[in-house]
Amino acid sequence: MAFRKDRSKTTNPVTDPANGNPATSNADYIVQIDDVHKSYVMGKEAVPALRGITLNVRRGEILCLMGPSGSGKTTMLNIIGGLDSASRGHVYVDAQNIIVLNEEKLASLRLRKMGFVFQNFNLLSNFTALENVQVPMVLIGRRSTKRAQELLRLVGLADRMGHYPSELSGGQQQRVAIARALANDPPLLIGDEMTGDLDTATSYEIMTLLVTLNKEHGTTIVFVTHDPRMSVFAHRVIHMNDGRLADEVVNPAPATHNPLMETAGVIH
Ligand SMILES: Nc1ncnc2c1ncn2[C@@H]1O[C@H](COP(=O)(O)OP(=O)(O)OP(=O)(O)O)[C@@H](O)[C@H]1O
Ligand SMILES: [Mg+2]
Repeated sequence: MAFRKDRSKTTNPVTDPANGNPATSNADYIVQIDDVHKSYVMGKEAVPALRGITLNVRRGEILCLMGPSGSGKTTMLNIIGGLDSASRGHVYVDAQNIIVLNEEKLASLRLRKMGFVFQNFNLLSNFTALENVQVPMVLIGRRSTKRAQELLRLVGLADRMGHYPSELSGGQQQRVAIARALANDPPLLIGDEMTGDLDTATSYEIMTLLVTLNKEHGTTIVFVTHDPRMSVFAHRVIHMNDGRLADEVVNPAPATHNPLMETAGVIH
């Protein structure tokens, strides 16, 4: 794959040079992170997890974060998602300064603006696929069986709506998790090692599903992976190291199809 190096985008200025404050709302960006630091206090020690991250994510972008274990990838996603708070710096999501939000407002923002997909699916085991997808809808008081059915159809599970997680394969469970993440039609989908527990073929299926969602619905996707074969679906790959952005690669021709299907001659 022909990757083009482009380090300029790593440091897109979100800071107004006149006063050092971050630009409040640049409509081009769904996420704006400016000089974010995060330290965890362990006993008397401060463990630095992020050491000054500045990053913008364009609306409609597929951004992949990679890097060694402990480099700060999950911490970064958690801070974007308001699941964890920055020790220093500014974080804007959909033009909203999330640092100043209280827990209630953060929870509301998460439910409406973001969908989360994790390595271990995190489905409720005693709820069916359909009921799992409806959970975020119930939480904002807008339960819709029709929409949940549409979402399950979208992820290719029309015939599995009444199944419980234990009756679904790993790939099918992850599809339910993706449908659930999209329940309230968020502009941003955040994935942490979404394909980490899936075999290669299923991982490719999940990634091509996400690419389709991105193309057809404009959903911005920020995902972490350790697998370089999954990073080829991203428009941009950022490598983290020791709590910093170490490198950035812009991909001018991101993969859109499952390469295994191409090999089999199914897609030309
Ligand atoms: N809740 C916490 N308390 C203390 N330290 C933490 C906590 N969460 C993360 N850390 C530390 O912050 C650093 C970054 O962790 P993080 O989970 O973001 O790494 P990662 O890049 O996601 O790693 P992996 O690839 O293993 O998932 C690590 O040194 C980790 O030990
Ligand atoms: Mg992690």
